[in-house]
Amino acid sequence: MSNIGSYEKRRENFNWDIAKEVLGWKEGEILNIGAMCSDRICAQGKGDKKALIWQGFGGKQKTYTFNDLRVLSNGFAKFLQDLGVEPGEKVCLFMDKIPELYVSFLGVLKMGAVAQPLFSAFGDESLEVRLLSADTKVIFTTRKHVKKVRKIQDRLPALEKIVVVEGNPAKLRDEEIYFSMEDFRVEDFTTFESDAGTPSVLHYTSGTTGQPKGAQHGHGSVWGQALTTSWVLDLKEDDIYWCTADPGWVTGTSYGIIGPWSLGVTQCVLDSGFTSAAWYQFIQDNRVTVWYSAPTAIRSLMRDGEALVRQYDLSSLRHLASVGEPLNAEAVIWSEKVYGLAFLDTFWQTETGSMMITNFPGMKIKPGSMGKPFPGIVAGILDLKTNEPVTEPGTVGLIAFRPGWPSMFREYVKQPDIYRSKFVGAADDAMPAELRLDESLWYVSGDRASFDKDGYYWFVGRDDDVINTGGHLVGPFEIESALVEHEAIAEAAAIGKPDEVNMEVVKVFVTLNPGFEPSDDLELNIMNFIRKRLSPLAMPQEIEYSEKLPKTRSGKILRRYLKALEWGEEVGDLSTLEDD
Ligand code: WT7
Repeated sequence: MSNIGSYEKRRENFNWDIAKEVLGWKEGEILNIGAMCSDRICAQGKGDKKALIWQGFGGKQKTYTFNDLRVLSNGFAKFLQDLGVEPGEKVCLFMDKIPELYVSFLGVLKMGAVAQPLFSAFGDESLEVRLLSADTKVIFTTRKHVKKVRKIQDRLPALEKIVVVEGNPAKLRDEEIYFSMEDFRVEDFTTFESDAGTPSVLHYTSGTTGQPKGAQHGHGSVWGQALTTSWVLDLKEDDIYWCTADPGWVTGTSYGIIGPWSLGVTQCVLDSGFTSAAWYQFIQDNRVTVWYSAPTAIRSLMRDGEALVRQYDLSSLRHLASVGEPLNAEAVIWSEKVYGLAFLDTFWQTETGSMMITNFPGMKIKPGSMGKPFPGIVAGILDLKTNEPVTEPGTVGLIAFRPGWPSMFREYVKQPDIYRSKFVGAADDAMPAELRLDESLWYVSGDRASFDKDGYYWFVGRDDDVINTGGHLVGPFEIESALVEHEAIAEAAAIGKPDEVNMEVVKVFVTLNPGFEPSDDLELNIMNFIRKRLSPLAMPQEIEYSEKLPKTRSGKILRRYLKALEWGEEVGDLSTLEDD
């Protein structure tokens, strides 16, 4: 089904049922992502095929077949059932990119619970906010990260069980449970009978205001994830695929677990720190054929130059794709020059669950453009003031999509009003709780772009104050709330500041409480405070002290004004900023 002609032909003949054909899924079979990625592949006679080639620090390696995935994920599913976890309850996965993370993800879904992966570098405050919001019942973690859970567990009334899946069991507290995946292979497990709307994966994403929102997906997302994996990532039976994203973020689950495994494709995971040399070595050692990564990584590879590339045999590579931030034309051109392959850009979001605007094999590539809407996706650019779709190429507006694609998020946990506010053109009672292509609604992404006369989309920037650092979204509100908990800080504003590699890094403006003076020590102290509480991503790279922060008449800090100054942009009419 793959490679069946041009973009236009695919668009014309499009039907989401094609995803079922690509997956070899028959009506009447269970629609459960956990089983689709393991049991179903084994039933197709591919139980002995390698599913996961894992490498950790120090070159440690482990390999798992699809049959291993099947029996080990059965183990997790059974273990959760025995703990008394019910379908629909949230199970957090808080660990590095170890095999247990990938397998437990499938196990949680198999027994009908909701998988809530959280980035293992999160500090206790980032963790607390997300576990509290989701009423998470069980957390799977490791010896290395359990300390952060201990710190906050008393403030999480819904959290019943802390399960440690790696490390020395002797060092655990009495109430903590040790679970060794390898010692609990379960041959038979009856999969929970989920359908398209059954909650599956929950990812938190940061907005401009308020705490992060939990975007809830359903098992039906697999249609979108599998078909884009097939057409855009072009995965085929014999590929060795590498997605560099961490499953703490949506790319790492949609395309680092569900996409490849639902298609029965072998994938590799590298769970050690980034260096260009280590990455090239990994590609060479594993004969990686398809590589899905992000612009910040690509720019880091560029910085380390072509000579390094020449020291490795990267001839196995046949297809490269990118997501998460604007992929600059230079990076596309450079990759074509040094790898003989251009990185192809894809645009999507946590909320969309799968790729929305894409470049794929067979399409003409315009370096610097995000490509065209995936067949089956109806995209538009909405006028910044009226929300009406623009018709003139080159007009900058909001990127929007007609709701109803299979992997669209189904709610923001406990925030129906914010969910509804992401859709325009609808009466309140017409919000798309049911997935359907509604001719009157648009889902508004929160990004600005334009399309050209050939229908290619060009990214302009975000329409809000969310900071995108190295392809990860960080909410300014989260940083500001944490900053004002520091004893020295009275008021704070956080913005993104331009950065050559990471696109943006966090910069903060603070006013100090009486008795505190700016100093190098204080600066380090504040940086570490944020790194520990939130994450290394949220840690400010620059702190500017000021006597007073600019505010609206109603007292809101004018982040946008600070940002315009920082970026050397037109500050514009202050009175309009004040209306914000
Ligand atoms: C935001 C979504 C699902 C991808 C991982 C991030 C930015 C994403 C691109 C791109 C320019 C991009 C947007 C978007 N973004 N892809 N190809 N070009 N910007 O998911 O954390 O929900 O972030 O990342 O601003 O809204 P996310």
